[in-house]
Amino acid sequence: MNISKIHAVYFSPCRSTAALTRAIADRAAEELKVPVEYYDFTLSKNRKNLTEFSSDELVIFGMPTYAGRIPNLILPIVQNAFQGNDALAVPVVTFGNRSYDNSLLELRNELEKKGFHTVAGGAFVSRHVFTDKVGAGRPDDADVAFVQDFAVKIAEKVSGLKEIPEPIAVPAKGHDKSNFVAASVDAKIGPYYTPLDEYGNPAMFLKATPVTDTQKCSRCSICARVCPMDAISTKDVTVMVGTCIKCQACVKRCPDKAKSFDDPAFLSHVKMLEENFSSPVEPEIYI
Ligand SMILES: Cc1cc2nc3c(=O)[nH]c(=O)nc-3n(C[C@H](O)[C@H](O)[C@H](O)COP(=O)(O)O)c2cc1C
Repeated sequence: MNISKIHAVYFSPCRSTAALTRAIADRAAEELKVPVEYYDFTLSKNRKNLTEFSSDELVIFGMPTYAGRIPNLILPIVQNAFQGNDALAVPVVTFGNRSYDNSLLELRNELEKKGFHTVAGGAFVSRHVFTDKVGAGRPDDADVAFVQDFAVKIAEKVSGLKEIPEPIAVPAKGHDKSNFVAASVDAKIGPYYTPLDEYGNPAMFLKATPVTDTQKCSRCSICARVCPMDAISTKDVTVMVGTCIKCQACVKRCPDKAKSFDDPAFLSHVKMLEENFSSPVEPEIYI
């Protein structure tokens, strides 16, 4: 199949998904000798218009895993802001070394429903944005090499395609490869993962929001400008004016290190992650 352009499309508050999605698109474009374009829909200002693709294009579509699925408040954007028009696509999810559960399956299905044809899929480990101790140092050199190899395989597969293939088979929760979900895009997606606390009980931190250390904060308002939900007031960054999805963009990108989460249930979940999910897990590709 002839491809005229590759797009890297991604939602990525803390930039790992952006880096991995772009690396795959760049390497595949190099192999296919076609141009590459990036489309970052993390910020609300970049989601105002419908973005359409065409049948001679390949879209590498990257999303982070939140609670084992694609972020629930961003799902409507995936559903409404893009139209595949028979473009080929590769769903790519990142996850913070716990599990991607059903995020890859969910993204595959959403892309298929929007007129994309999925030809491969991948789930890649990156540091968990809640703590540097989980997924520490990921993606590392081995991950980068793995991603490059995946991109080469995508390019080979796409070049050899004579007709539109069936949707790529990816596993459902548990990553049980013997239990691949059949190609139906209407496959039921499992529930969201319930975060646990250090004692194994549900950790309820849905209402948690970042706190501001006013001694450190220089009022630069970068936190408000990097928030994908426009949840932080630009006039007074200590005030929340929208829904926080706990993506950690404000925490990670504050130059004064003035933002943090002090919610006890959130911190207990982080402790649980550090105690149980620090051993490195492997990325997975489906092609
Ligand atoms: C609200 C929230 C929920 C998350 N849930 C999971 C999860 O269920 N499993 C997992 O392994 N990582 C989880 N993570 C970690 C992210 O998937 C991971 O850090 C991702 O690479 C962040 O992408 P970004 O750097 O592009 O923002 C979660 C992160 C956030 C913010």
